[in-house]
Amino acid sequence: MARITYRDIVIETRQGDIASQPDLEAIVNAANAMLMPGGGVAGAIHRAAGPGLAEECRTYAPIKPGEAVITGGHNLPNRYVIHTLGPVYGQDKPEADILARCYENSLTLCEKHQIESVGFPAISTGVFGYPMREAAEVAFATIKSMIEKGLTYPKRIVFVLYRSQDQALHDEVLSRIFPS
Ligand code: APR
Repeated sequence: MARITYRDIVIETRQGDIASQPDLEAIVNAANAMLMPGGGVAGAIHRAAGPGLAEECRTYAPIKPGEAVITGGHNLPNRYVIHTLGPVYGQDKPEADILARCYENSLTLCEKHQIESVGFPAISTGVFGYPMREAAEVAFATIKSMIEKGLTYPKRIVFVLYRSQDQALHDEVLSRIFPS
């Protein structure tokens, strides 16, 4: 686990399942446009949340790449779920700008709802094919710039990576973008 503090905001990584993070007030879903259960992150979140989540999501769908919406957590241990649609690599362009907007819009919702802690998966790096290293660089650079612009919530941002090698890669990119 890596952990850094930048202007009073903590950023950390951990290995695990995004749908089993009881200490986080909100988790982020790497959603599809219709905000319906899918594979990967979306499948895990909807399975744990129960059918009430898909029902609530119906009122917000469809969303466009880069957008984010917020719902309740239903049967999840988290108060909120933030659903964002990442870019399909090689298709939705410019990929890096769209991915950056996913992080920006998700964090803006955290600010609006004064959410203390949020967990992000590695958005777009599964079915959507975004290379993990490039995606991690976009994620941390976007968070850094949001903090520099005066982000006050969330106080804690946790990257929940499914595989240990993905966590190691995020640790390396994190320490490069936030040198101690
Ligand atoms: N917890 C944390 N990370 C996970 C989990 C989980 N339970 N399951 C998968 N991951 C990781 C994957 O290894 C990948 O690195 O999350 C990353 C994102 O993978 P996807 O869930 O495939 O998300 P994405 O690439 O954004 O594609 C979204 O996939 O499931 C469909 O309906 C979804 O169409 C949408 C698309």
